[in-house]
Amino acid sequence: MAQIFHSSMNSVARISVFGLPLLFVGSILGGTIIYRSPYITGEREVIDQPVPFSHKHHVGELGIDCRYCHTSVETSAYAGIPPTKTCMNCHQQMWAGSDMLGPVRESYKQDKSIPWEGVHNLPNYVYFNHSIHLAKGVGCYSCHGEIDKMNLTFQDKSLLMEWCLKCHRNPGPNLRPKEEIFSMTWRRDKDHPNPKTGEAWTTDEIIDHNKLKIRDAIQITSCSTCHR
Ligand code: HEC
Ligand code: HEC
Ligand code: HEC
Ligand code: HEC
Ligand code: HEC
Repeated sequence: MAQIFHSSMNSVARISVFGLPLLFVGSILGGTIIYRSPYITGEREVIDQPVPFSHKHHVGELGIDCRYCHTSVETSAYAGIPPTKTCMNCHQQMWAGSDMLGPVRESYKQDKSIPWEGVHNLPNYVYFNHSIHLAKGVGCYSCHGEIDKMNLTFQDKSLLMEWCLKCHRNPGPNLRPKEEIFSMTWRRDKDHPNPKTGEAWTTDEIIDHNKLKIRDAIQITSCSTCHR
């Protein structure tokens, strides 16, 4: 039988019945919910880029190490974004005619960097530093998630203060042996045992192994750690 009302009328009816009370509650909760919603934090939002660079291809499938492109991540506050020259090391030969790589070739020819859109953006009043996190045994995976499965790059975590603090209050469970910092697949379980014990690594074993003490929570949760 033919429908009398177009199905979109259902949603019109729903809006008029539920819309008003929802708007009212919404205006009370709105402030807090919107502030924390992924819409505002940018969490899991895929960012369009001038070139559809894929970590899934380059890291997940080709197995290129993060440091090949993010060269300063171990030594400085910034991980760094690779210059076009790094891409051309391979793409001068490989897939040299690909349309998708047009902007890469153009950038190289004109000696102008590719205008990548930043994915992560902490406010200026927050101090962050990559090198200390890596040195103390926090892996890329803990903060950036499964980059090796991303076609276009997105921010995996909220990057809100409470997210930073949750780990700073008790970093132990997030630490890993230093050889595993760049691994996307290492997990702290029996399948990735400490070779000395054959069991899952404990926090104390990791701290011993990495040979760097972790400061106490009072120090690393003090405001001046991140706001200086
Ligand atoms: C072949 C080069 C290459 C390799 C290898 C690589 N990346 Fe990237 N990465 C890029 C490029 C180019 C961008 C900028 C475009 C984008 O955001 O996708 C980027 C962006 C990122 C960003 C977002 C930066 C921002 O704008 O906030 C993160 C996080 C990141 N990479 C992490 C990693 C991690 C972790 C690894 C290793 C598991 C890795 N990358 C390996 C080239 C690379
Ligand atoms: C403790 C959490 C944490 C760890 C561990 C971490 N990152 Fe980041 N990363 C961040 C945050 C937060 C930002 C945003 C910094 C900003 O906006 O100032 C960021 C930004 C980036 C960027 C953008 C450029 C820059 O330096 O701002 C890249 C690329 C990146 N990370 C790659 C990596 C790679 C590769 C690793 C592992 C070797 C890694 N990150 C480990 C939290 C982390
Ligand atoms: C170590 C070698 C290597 C480096 C370095 C490298 N790539 Fe690639 N890239 C490849 C290979 C191999 C493929 C083909 C992957 C596939 O299809 O499985 C590829 C594929 C691509 C594609 C898809 C092309 C198409 O037509 O499907 C793009 C876009 C791309 N790379 C961009 C970049 C950019 C941008 C950089 C620099 C930040 C870069 N690549 C660095 C090896 C590399
Ligand atoms: C997964 C765990 C984890 C997350 C998430 C994390 N951190 Fe850390 N952070 C650590 C550890 C561990 C240390 C090293 C503490 C030490 O030195 O003993 C550290 C140290 C720091 C330091 C260095 C302090 C100093 O005096 O040099 C700064 C700054 C910092 N973190 C900022 C941040 C900010 C900002 C965020 C959120 C955007 C963040 N961290 C998220 C684990 C984490
Ligand atoms: C481990 C890092 C870290 C520590 C420690 C930290 N903050 Fe923050 N703070 C952040 C980050 C990241 C942001 C930005 C993201 C956000 O707004 O949540 C932020 C944002 C803020 C803001 C502005 C946003 C808002 O919520 O209104 C204020 C105010 C602030 N922090 C105060 C403090 C005070 C006071 C302390 C000490 C009790 C402190 N912070 C300790 C990381 C930190």
